Order: sequence, then structure tokens, then C-alpha cells
Amino acid sequence: MRMKVNSYNSPGIIAILIALSMFYSCEYEQREPFDAGNLPEVVSFNEHLIPIFENKCVSCHPISPPDLTRENAFFDLTNGNYLNIENPESSFLYEKISGSGSMAKYADDYDRAIILKWIEQGAEDN
Ligand code: HEC
Repeated sequence: MRMKVNSYNSPGIIAILIALSMFYSCEYEQREPFDAGNLPEVVSFNEHLIPIFENKCVSCHPISPPDLTRENAFFDLTNGNYLNIENPESSFLYEKISGSGSMAKYADDYDRAIILKWIEQGAEDN
């Protein structure tokens, strides 16, 4: 009797465990699907962009061009022809991290969208 219950239940339990482990591994390996609606209302250079630069760019851009350290990133980006406020999508910085730009592989969709939004909002030192 005991054997019978086990042989009936085990595959079910294993299936549940496999399903759970797949669910959790997906949760942790993939980011939330990108949703432009999740971007902050007002993008802050210091709060939102600097952490992206520090995590993904500063290792290669500690000096210039462009220097993306917390201390100098704003100055370098606003003084080096990297931004086009009238036509944000044509900003050299944005083109470089998008599409076939050579820095595209270092940024993800969220990074691109929030950087673009910051430029659209006037690229302020906020
Ligand atoms: C593995 C090193 C590396 C990483 C990481 C990296 N870059 Fe670069 N970046 C380079 C090199 C090398 C160049 C010069 C060659 C080129 O333009 O492709 C460059 C060039 C650039 C330029 C053009 C500079 C100019 O004046 O011509 C921009 C803008 C830029 N990177 C932004 C970024 C941003 C933003 C990130 C992070 C999302 C980033 N890079 C991450 C190595 C890196």
C-alpha cells in the first residue's frame, strides 16, 4: 500500500518541483519585461544615470572620452557634443548605445530609454 502511494505521488511531486525551479530560475535570470511606462516621471541624472554609468561604463570610461565618473560625467556629456536637445534621438551618446552603435552591447533597453528620456527632458544636472 505504502509503495503504491509513493509510486503514484512521486512523479507529481517531481513535476511540481521542476515547475517551481523553472519558475524561480526565470524570475532571477530575466529582468522584468521592459515597459516604457515604468520609467520615472522625472529622470534624475544623479539618481538614475550615474548608477548605470558606474555599473556598466566607468570601468572603460574612467577618464575620457567621455569621462563617465560621478564627478565628471555631466560636464563631459554636456561639453563634448554628445547631446542633441532639439533632436534627442540623434544625440551621439544615444546613437552610440543603440542599434548598431559600438556601445549598444553594454546597455539594455531600459538604459537606452531612460537616457533618452533624460535628454528629452533637457539633460539637466539634477
Ligand atoms: C569594454 C570597455 C567599454 C565599455 C564597458 C563601455 N565603453 Fe564606451 N567606448 C569604449 C571604447 C574602446 C571606445 C572608443 C571606440 C568606439 O567609439 O567604439 C568607446 C567609445 C564610447 C563613446 C564615443 C566617444 C567618442 O567621443 O567618440 C561613447 C559615447 C561611449 N563609449 C559611451 C559608453 C557608455 C554610455 C557605456 C556604458 C553603457 C560604455 N561606453 C561602455 C569602451 C567601452
